[in-house]
Amino acid sequence: MAIDEGVKPVPVEDEILAVIRQRWSPMSFSDQPVSDADLAKVFTAAGWAASCYNEQPWRFLVGRQGDATYEKIMDALVEFNQVWAKTAPVLILSASKMVFSTNGYPNPLGLHDTGGASANMSLQAAALGLQTRGISDVDQARARRNFAIPDEFAICAAWALGYPGGPDALPMIYREMEKAARTRKPLREFVFTAWERAAEI
Ligand SMILES: Cc1cc2nc3c(=O)[nH]c(=O)nc-3n(C[C@H](O)[C@H](O)[C@H](O)COP(=O)(O)O)c2cc1C
Repeated sequence: MAIDEGVKPVPVEDEILAVIRQRWSPMSFSDQPVSDADLAKVFTAAGWAASCYNEQPWRFLVGRQGDATYEKIMDALVEFNQVWAKTAPVLILSASKMVFSTNGYPNPLGLHDTGGASANMSLQAAALGLQTRGISDVDQARARRNFAIPDEFAICAAWALGYPGGPDALPMIYREMEKAARTRKPLREFVFTAWERAAEI
């Protein structure tokens, strides 16, 4: 499938990969269903992320609207996010193993690597015409209880996934957020040669 420019595009002067241009985070999703084949591609892409000692610490719980997994994820979200997230046909909860499977030692980079896998997931989704939106403020205790997640796993984030819907489907206060322009820090604010000394690139 050809990659179209995202609805909320990256500035044209940023010459980056088409799929990165295409990704953005909608709050409103259409009711168009997501195929099992596309979901499998999205998680296959997540699984091909790099990780410390190839531990692959990420785990993803995936629910579809109407099933018990979806309800258990929704139950752990704050109301602000529930309002828009319920438009998504798929909800995902990410968790990360925080000890190495080989020796039980702590893996301080587990969250880092699960973030990398999640980025792969979002980019593969965008390449398929789908989009994702991350969701913080997950009630950790509730999510752990709802899924009986073992203690050596940290609960990371929830994700909404589906085809973008359009702002008019949202309650008024969310519509302006959905239409707002996307902004980013300039490179000088996060690429340094010494602490807070901008790299001359
Ligand atoms: C881990 C994570 C958690 C997020 N949590 C929320 C959230 O709780 N509620 C929300 O509306 N958006 C949330 N977002 C979406 C961000 O606000 C969004 O990614 C950011 O504004 C940049 O916009 P863009 O993804 O379209 O580039 C989250 C994104 C990530 C990656």
